[in-house]
Amino acid sequence: MTAAGRPYAGTVVTPLVDGFGRVHRDLRISVTDRCNLRCTYCMPEEGMQWLPRDQVLTFEELERVARLAVERFGFESIRLTGGEPTVRAHLPVLVAKLAALGVEVSMTTNGLTLASQAQAYADAGLSRVNISLDTLRPDRFLELTRRDRLADVLAGVDAAVAAGLGPVKLNVVCMRGVNDDEIVDLATFGRDRGVEVRFIEWMPLDEDHSWSPGAVVAGEEIIAAIAAVHPLHPLARGSEPAAVWAYDDGLGTVGAISSVTEPFCGSCDRVRLTAEGALRSCLFSHDETDLRALLRSPASDDDLTSAIAACVAGKRAGHQIGAVTFVQPPRSMSRIGG
Ligand code: 5AD
Ligand code: SF4
Repeated sequence: MTAAGRPYAGTVVTPLVDGFGRVHRDLRISVTDRCNLRCTYCMPEEGMQWLPRDQVLTFEELERVARLAVERFGFESIRLTGGEPTVRAHLPVLVAKLAALGVEVSMTTNGLTLASQAQAYADAGLSRVNISLDTLRPDRFLELTRRDRLADVLAGVDAAVAAGLGPVKLNVVCMRGVNDDEIVDLATFGRDRGVEVRFIEWMPLDEDHSWSPGAVVAGEEIIAAIAAVHPLHPLARGSEPAAVWAYDDGLGTVGAISSVTEPFCGSCDRVRLTAEGALRSCLFSHDETDLRALLRSPASDDDLTSAIAACVAGKRAGHQIGAVTFVQPPRSMSRIGG
């Protein structure tokens, strides 16, 4: 039996534990490095080198890794990411394959395709979505993402709610002097739509290496700004990276992911698989394990399982952003998977 009580004939479930006792149960799968936006904090306008298609894992390869994570290590959730996951052709086919493993399958998306596709993802077995939205102003959206598509994202939020892909969460990367004047507007938007807004501190994972500590708006400051307008009380912390507050008037919740100012590395249960099959134990890792080479060799399931275990065994205690020794990883967020 797995931790979740699912029997798998002939397999023994061994929790995937690292050197610091952290048990890993959440797999983030990047299905493509491509994107239909060009957020300034993530990608340059031009010049991104996309992976050749034959280097991107196939659905069968992804399913094999996911199945081992579930059957051998008792993983309980899978999150699809990118780049932008919905630009991968036939994504609902993959969703159905992963949902059939009996785990929760969710997705982080920029929302552009949801207005037309949300129901198809829900029908395939997707349980919920996180939608990235950093501004409610059309001119600023164009400036930030270099595409004039705010209306599509807003329609996508409504479509996700209507398709039952909830609880829908909105990811806002908050940056000083860029969108920090919209904190209360975005929180109010979430209250009105019945979705949880989660403010994320900007992390040094941009392709341009333009991140600076001064551009980070601390989660604490964000929550204080919202509470001044809509009174809040904190909820007990779960295993999620977001600290969540409830509005005193009962109109929902709001979260802060303080990755930089209050790192939650100590409770991290995530492993990441990049679009070309590199397994990473941390967003900020400098080493990764090439699972694609194994997947495209005669390696057995046991060989793959050992490689996954070895990758996680080497996971570092934390990201060390702010330490003098910190070095930004060579991969940007869009080439890792959020
Ligand atoms: N820091 C914090 N969040 C980021 N995202 C992308 N780049 C960064 C960064 N450097 C967010 C996206 C998306 C999620 C995958 O991560 O906006 O919501
Ligand atoms: Fe695309 Fe997400 Fe990067 Fe924006 S943050 S460019 S939506 S991958």
